[in-house]
Amino acid sequence: MRMVELIKKKQEKKELTKNEIQYIMEGYTNDEIPDYQVSAWAMAVYFNDMTDHERMALTVAIAESGDQIDLSKIEGIKVDKHSTGGVGDTTTLILAPLVASVGVPVAKMSGRGLGHTGGTIDKLEAIPGFHIEMDQEEFIDLVNRHKIAVIGQSGNLCPADKKLYALRDVTSTVDSLPLIASSIMSKKIASGADAIVLDVKVGAGAFMKTTEKAEELAHAMVTIGKLAGRNTMAIISDMNQPLGIAVGNALEVEEAIETLKGRGPSDLEELCLELGAQMVYLGGKAESISQAKTMLKEKLHSGEALEKFKEFIENQGGDSRVIDDYQRLPQAKFQKNIQAEEDGFVTEIIADLIGRAAMELGAGRATKESKIDLAAGLKVLKKVGDPVSKGDVLVTLYANTEKFEQSEKMVREAYSIGKEQIHLTLIHETITD
Ligand code: URA
Ligand code: CA
Repeated sequence: MRMVELIKKKQEKKELTKNEIQYIMEGYTNDEIPDYQVSAWAMAVYFNDMTDHERMALTVAIAESGDQIDLSKIEGIKVDKHSTGGVGDTTTLILAPLVASVGVPVAKMSGRGLGHTGGTIDKLEAIPGFHIEMDQEEFIDLVNRHKIAVIGQSGNLCPADKKLYALRDVTSTVDSLPLIASSIMSKKIASGADAIVLDVKVGAGAFMKTTEKAEELAHAMVTIGKLAGRNTMAIISDMNQPLGIAVGNALEVEEAIETLKGRGPSDLEELCLELGAQMVYLGGKAESISQAKTMLKEKLHSGEALEKFKEFIENQGGDSRVIDDYQRLPQAKFQKNIQAEEDGFVTEIIADLIGRAAMELGAGRATKESKIDLAAGLKVLKKVGDPVSKGDVLVTLYANTEKFEQSEKMVREAYSIGKEQIHLTLIHETITD
């Protein structure tokens, strides 16, 4: 096989075979095919798209480029969830104990990652003593006994994706549907998921700015999942404002606990029940999505989901007293309220700017080396549609330095206040095929 011919084939809108795609990804991972040829191929894909079978083949080839996690020793159907970049998205912390409480095994591999706030692991490490260091055997044993455990991601997951993503970034080929879809799905498949639930965000703060784009991505990923033998479902959810109230690591842990106590923000609870129902259904623990949702509501309101969270924290060395005493979580030295300057209704909160404000306060990582301040972040106290009077607190900032200027500017820019009361729909659509 010659790479130049495969580039030409895609350029001529012909379908590449599974072997050809595997050849490209293998050669690229092993440094046998140079960046410039893969760039040309990515550009051909950008313009000429890929068929469903090509997308599936690319996904599998990327998944096979590095370590593949073997979760076969865990009993039951392992369902994983992925959200496409929300702001202040606390869902994983809630969903993990929630679905585990109905018996769906949650074997979560998580990274730290870059972004507005830390990853799931950073958030959990806000709980004193909580650790993710354990060997594979211990991890599997915990999931079999308690249905829930979180471990740090393997070092060599999908190396082809790391290279390809960096290349796309500098060749203006990030925004290609088949490349995005295969990038996301390959990581879920390599982490050992039997079934996958996707939360595709849409709106000003999201990767996909329009519902059409989000639908296309969701359909593409569901099709890839099914062709690769992983039952997959998706939800399209709104990111025209941050989800819930808290954005920040310790603040989101507190918010997750409140939600598990049945008194969390209503949008966050609604999304968790929807995603959780799909996970329970795909996990084979319910006959239908609606039955699954009823089961989850019961677990939330009976306190069993909270009890599962407690068990999970204790299993991994954490101080479960945080559940009743939030002061045990890292606390910021300084707070600042940002008040409304006029009367009206909140008409817009640009989620991305809120995320960047949280990052400015120290809640996230700009580079792999940056240190996270687990106490830092903000609370979005007024949401779209809420009436506000001049002087009402819109947002409270939390930080360990008094340098609030930049983040305050971003929060002010994120908010619009107008005369009209707007109602946003949180869940736009459910996609099952
Ligand atoms: N997230 C990913 O993991 N990959 C993409 O290509 C885009 C978003
Ligand atoms: Ca939140």
